[in-house]
Amino acid sequence: MERGGILVAGGAGYIGSHACKALAADGYLPVTLDDLSSGHAGAVQWGPLVRADISDAEAVARAVETHGVVGALHFAAKSLVGESVREPLKYFRENVGKGVAFLEALQTAGVGNILFSSTAAVYGDPAQPRPIREEDATRPINPYGASKLAFEGALRAAARASGGRCAVLRYFNAAGADSVGDLGEDHDPETHLIPLIVRASRGETPPLTVYGEDYDTRDGTAIRDYVHVEDLASAHILVLEQLFRGQTDLVLNAGAGEGVTVREVLLAAEECLGRSIPAVVGARRDGDPPVLVADTGRLTALGWAPKKTLPDMIRSAAAWREKTAALS
Ligand SMILES: NC(=O)c1ccc[n+]([C@@H]2O[C@H](COP(=O)([O-])OP(=O)(O)OC[C@H]3O[C@@H](n4cnc5c(N)ncnc54)[C@H](O)[C@@H]3O)[C@@H](O)[C@H]2O)c1
Repeated sequence: MERGGILVAGGAGYIGSHACKALAADGYLPVTLDDLSSGHAGAVQWGPLVRADISDAEAVARAVETHGVVGALHFAAKSLVGESVREPLKYFRENVGKGVAFLEALQTAGVGNILFSSTAAVYGDPAQPRPIREEDATRPINPYGASKLAFEGALRAAARASGGRCAVLRYFNAAGADSVGDLGEDHDPETHLIPLIVRASRGETPPLTVYGEDYDTRDGTAIRDYVHVEDLASAHILVLEQLFRGQTDLVLNAGAGEGVTVREVLLAAEECLGRSIPAVVGARRDGDPPVLVADTGRLTALGWAPKKTLPDMIRSAAAWREKTAALS
């Protein structure tokens, strides 16, 4: 039985497409709204694709009316940290300006349950290397993080004023691919560690660069929190259903709650893939905090727990790359 349409802004992208599959499995109709600026039409497999910019109010109104939309997931954004430093206004225009236009269009169309994809980048460089809680200070250190935090503020204030319901999921590092090979990560340029490791392991790219080996961590490399994209997708369903039950203004970290160093990911990949991975050590990147790990207490209190491990992320990412390389 169909439970209504969910407008998925950015549903042709990496995390959005996995969320569409999870929505369809749960009986919703995912209606993707995407301009394909970084997404792929082929990733839209479980519902219609409306090819439009999120700020296109007419396209939003038509999609809501045609498909009986009862809620929205908002993944659409620009998310390259380095680019955001070089072109900050692009990030405020795309992630805040267009995001606000999208909110206005949703409000006009009467859609009041909105879940936004935010990021651990809103926390900046945390003072303490302990798991980050949602109530910790938000002091972004790059325009990307600042733009995501600004949109969080707009969304939450608008929901309060209008009586609509909203939630914010602050992702840590999404990784891995669909377990049966329907979907995967395909960014251009790719900046995420696991797909870069997979490419280096296949000889498709020069050796992987490890940015900084002089952090105050157990092996000197930066610690991050990797969460499987399918676990992340299931968190969206859970949180959306909280909104349908009347909850609002939810702000939740979404990570596995476990920190892993870059070296540990490399070693795990060598073990999973059965080959050595060429890597060189480079300088630290500006604005890369030593440790970013989520306190996931709020999300786990809703009954969510990650089911997939780091080896699952690596193996599924490698299988996806193998599949897409064979097709190209
Ligand atoms: N990948 C991660 O590890 C990660 C971590 C933290 C936060 N996030 C956030 O999660 C969201 C999804 O990330 P992703 O890795 O799937 O990104 P992605 O680039 O794969 O997906 C974004 C999608 O949005 C679309 N899009 C962008 N601007 C648009 C616009 N103006 N109108 C319509 N469509 C537009 C793109 O075409 C793409 O399909 C982003 O908001 C990102 O900031 C991702």
